[in-house]
Amino acid sequence: MTSATQDPQKPAPPLPRWQGTPRYIADEGLQATVNVAVALGRPLLVKGEPGTGKTLLAQAIAEGLGLNLLTWHVKSTTRAQDGLYLYDTVARLNDSRFGDRDVRDVAQYIKMGPLGEAFERAATGERVVLLIDEVDKADLEFPNDLLHELDAMRFRVAETGREVVAGLRPIVVITSNAEKELPDAFLRRCVFHYIEFPEEALLTQICRVHHPDVDERLLAAALRQFMRLRSIPELRKKPSTSELIDWVAGLRLAGIDPAKLDHALPFVGVLLKQEKDTQRLGRGDWSRQAARR
Ligand SMILES: Nc1ncnc2c1ncn2[C@@H]1O[C@H](COP(=O)(O)OP(=O)(O)O)[C@@H](O)[C@H]1O
Ligand SMILES: [Mg+2]
Repeated sequence: MTSATQDPQKPAPPLPRWQGTPRYIADEGLQATVNVAVALGRPLLVKGEPGTGKTLLAQAIAEGLGLNLLTWHVKSTTRAQDGLYLYDTVARLNDSRFGDRDVRDVAQYIKMGPLGEAFERAATGERVVLLIDEVDKADLEFPNDLLHELDAMRFRVAETGREVVAGLRPIVVITSNAEKELPDAFLRRCVFHYIEFPEEALLTQICRVHHPDVDERLLAAALRQFMRLRSIPELRKKPSTSELIDWVAGLRLAGIDPAKLDHALPFVGVLLKQEKDTQRLGRGDWSRQAARR
């Protein structure tokens, strides 16, 4: 297949089809999107509710394809250039005053960022998975600047004159919590996937991954209560997959009888994090409606 993006200088060795991992359950849709993004050499942009496995996905892709993972957690102050490298002027200044290192060797103060490292490794023939987590945390210029760097596949360390030419395209996974709209030019170049909140059957499978020896009756009862809770439209903050996994852990530790779960919600604080929600649940505001659902 010819690449739709700039041709990498070296042909990437073929990778196996990604199908999730024993610890990461991916439905058909997600598997297909991951595989097409890898084949096209396009960044994969993943959105979805918190706790739907966006961050963990990159790790699972790396694991499934037998590649190393590099992670870049985006903050409000992050700039695209930071991902390439940082020049640690403070360390150099300190060394010039108090240290015994030769401060004329600037190269020792250049610290590669995750993107720079991904390109450096690619230059030696290693394809890595690069996770750029929560891209929407940074300012509006960030996504476009980032794509510019990703397209270029090369950069120059201005302070030393060294040039890094990637050669191979890293597999880039970008997550967003949709706090901000992303620019059109950015979206055009990505392959997009929205991770829907899992259906009960998939959620059960995910729980089994985390609790392989769970009592099936307890799991079924917990799932029933959890789905009932999530179906309440007035809920301010719906509990997520990761909260369900924690809740099941709590229920197991306390040895809760599955039969009792249909009428009670022990450790509700693991699931609900807004006092309005816990108060209304405590008053029984939703119990009749929920029972009908
Ligand atoms: N498909 C999945 N397979 C296995 N575990 C999952 C899956 N989705 C979510 N989880 C669990 O939920 C937790 C939260 O996932 P995370 O990737 O941090 O979510 P997000 O980044 O979307 O907020 C993970 O640590 C994992 O325990
Ligand atoms: Mg995350």
